[in-house]
Amino acid sequence: MTIAVRFIAADGKAEVAVAAEEGARLLDVAQAADQPLEGTCEGQMACSTCHVIVDAADFAKLPRASEMEDDLLDLAPHVTRTSRLACQIVLTGLDSLTVRLPPTSRDIARR
Ligand code: FES
Repeated sequence: MTIAVRFIAADGKAEVAVAAEEGARLLDVAQAADQPLEGTCEGQMACSTCHVIVDAADFAKLPRASEMEDDLLDLAPHVTRTSRLACQIVLTGLDSLTVRLPPTSRDIARR
């Protein structure tokens, strides 16, 4: 089974749609689709360069973020109520997922 993932550019204009494998990590799917998510720490929750803004309806379907993820998101630029770290989202139990990329990201480890 595949999951229809849509990436919307920060300006809301460009959109990329891909079919992701069940169980894939959103960061890996994004990078395979040439989306500008650095993922500098490769999922160690140390950078926040994988920050994405999840569609509100889809956000409600995801398991809650851990406290550590929330703490890191607090330090990321352009955070919204539905922000998540793409390295922490495993695509499972969903038909589709839409995320928007923030205008900028920052590597928290390199302050
Ligand atoms: Fe660094 Fe997600 S890749 S926090």
